[in-house]
Amino acid sequence: MIKKIAYLIVFGFIMCSCSQEKDTNDSNNKTEIIMNNSILDSHTLSNYKEVSIDHSHLNLTVDFNSKLIHGSVTHTINNPNKDSVFILDTKYLSIEAVSDQDGNKLDFSYGEKDDLLGVPLMVLVNSNTKKVTIAYSTTNKSEALDWLNAEQTSGKDFPFMYTQGQSIFTRSWIPIQDSPGLRITYSADVTVPAGMLPVMSAANPQIKNNTNVYSFEMNQPIPPYLIALAVGDLQFKQIDYRTGVYAEPNMLESCVDEFADMGKMVSAAEELYGEYDWERFDVIVLPPSFPFGGMENPKLTFATPTIIAGDRSLVSLIAHELAHSWSGNLVTNATWNDFWLNEGFTVYFERRIMEALYGKDYTEMLALLGYQDLQEELVTLDPKMQTLKLKMKGMHPDDAMSDIAYEKGYFFLRMIENSVGRELMDGFLKKYFSDHKFQTIVTEEFLAYLEANLINGKRESLKIDDWVYQPGLPDNCPVVDCKRFINVESAIDDFMLTNTIANLTTTEWSTHEWIHFIKNLPDTVNSNQMLMLDEAFNLSSSGNSEILAVWFERSIVSNYQPAFPYMRKFLIKVGRRKFLQPIYESLAKREDHKIWAKDVYKYARSNYHYVSFNTIDEILK
Ligand code: BES
Ligand code: ZN
Repeated sequence: MIKKIAYLIVFGFIMCSCSQEKDTNDSNNKTEIIMNNSILDSHTLSNYKEVSIDHSHLNLTVDFNSKLIHGSVTHTINNPNKDSVFILDTKYLSIEAVSDQDGNKLDFSYGEKDDLLGVPLMVLVNSNTKKVTIAYSTTNKSEALDWLNAEQTSGKDFPFMYTQGQSIFTRSWIPIQDSPGLRITYSADVTVPAGMLPVMSAANPQIKNNTNVYSFEMNQPIPPYLIALAVGDLQFKQIDYRTGVYAEPNMLESCVDEFADMGKMVSAAEELYGEYDWERFDVIVLPPSFPFGGMENPKLTFATPTIIAGDRSLVSLIAHELAHSWSGNLVTNATWNDFWLNEGFTVYFERRIMEALYGKDYTEMLALLGYQDLQEELVTLDPKMQTLKLKMKGMHPDDAMSDIAYEKGYFFLRMIENSVGRELMDGFLKKYFSDHKFQTIVTEEFLAYLEANLINGKRESLKIDDWVYQPGLPDNCPVVDCKRFINVESAIDDFMLTNTIANLTTTEWSTHEWIHFIKNLPDTVNSNQMLMLDEAFNLSSSGNSEILAVWFERSIVSNYQPAFPYMRKFLIKVGRRKFLQPIYESLAKREDHKIWAKDVYKYARSNYHYVSFNTIDEILK
């Protein structure tokens, strides 16, 4: 009977949470939305607004034989209205038992499965329930976890595993209220095989011990998508007193060298927008299957090895993940509809860090490349996905990961900076971060704050609502002044006109000039011309992943066959979706290329994380 009543309450809750996502396009509604702050995350099935987790303690064993994590999580809950059900998100987990702080069994049941969101786990609680312990195990369907065999690592002696939580994957390795609108602290005891070191988005060990059990604490409240774990044959080396690198031993030195400026980046960031609140800033360099460039797990950024170029030319990615320590981790988008608040601010902040360290001319190259990517994307992207504020209900939140959030978000903030001047902009951002630290925020709250603190009365003249709620780019979008690319553009003209490389003076070119050169070769460039470039500059075997990726795209368009064996190697080794997606998409356009791609994919797929193979499956189906 009790169970039945609980079900009714639960389903009533779920129904009403779904219908509460308001139409934020209607500007008359805005004040009301801010006032009642009722915007709920539509990507959780939990009741985090009624009964919420304060702290989670994990007690886990990482088992490489079965490729499973098992153990328990104990949630300390906050239940002000004495609700009788505590609802958590789960996906592909095997729940064994649920008990309270005294070890008493608690009844639990499951709600209806949602293909996207998973299965809500409903635990009956009472007014005395302070803690809820869930004994569980992951399954081999977990979307968060990537298990690598020793051959897939750099050292080839130990296996490796890592988690990816953002956006809605934490629920596939921890039963939890998986909403960015919630903040929790966490701690963990993690048991791993001898010789391996676990690290988390928490205070981390710097050396292996003999017990094989490691303890972690994250005392700052964070959203659950930032809980992260990696286990491997890892070694640590410091860069300065609060920064350092974890990597497999045979890669550690090159990583430390690549990231030599990390300490300076943290100081530059603090100089701009206030104190770094997370004590340490370390980076772990993962195996090449990692599906992202970087992931801003607090205290410990997860990074792809494809940024180890040997010349420090791709370190803006570190500046980006560091910037998330403010935008994203300190002030977090309350729902995935507001994802641009995380990423647009972070790109703006990233480029300010880069400018502080490497100057304006250098950073304008990054901004122009970003602008061109945005222009390219706008041509194909559904207008509904071109607004900063999105309506992601029913869709995977990861689909919000387009240049709209990143680059349109960046240019929006740059437009405001141009209008008010840098000094006021910086004062505003510093205050924004400190006023909202360890809080979550939706777009409408930000806009109200912006009006009250920076652009009083200018909302219309700055076309703020067009930027946020309309597709495309408003006509007050800033223009990038990139001097260093002017030379590159005349080099392209010269090469195409003379059909020789005789006049190409590339010795001073950075990675970014090369990217601009390759991307802007006209579609009429033929295989012979590609061969000329390749022979002169060894582009097919470049050690720089960003150059390789654009070169391969160009090679597909020109059907430049000599690059294909190199592309095959790259696709089998690297699992970073940003590179894979455009290459496979381009290959899928031509029947013979598509057949070739499917053959490569047979070998490559098992090297990809769920995030990547899920995307590529769709492209090649
Ligand atoms: N937080 C993102 C990665 C992410 C976004 C994961 C959405 C899952 C869902 C991270 O900060 C990021 O933006 N990474 C970029 C690098 C950056 C320099 C633009 C990436 O991985 O390409
Ligand atoms: Zn980011």
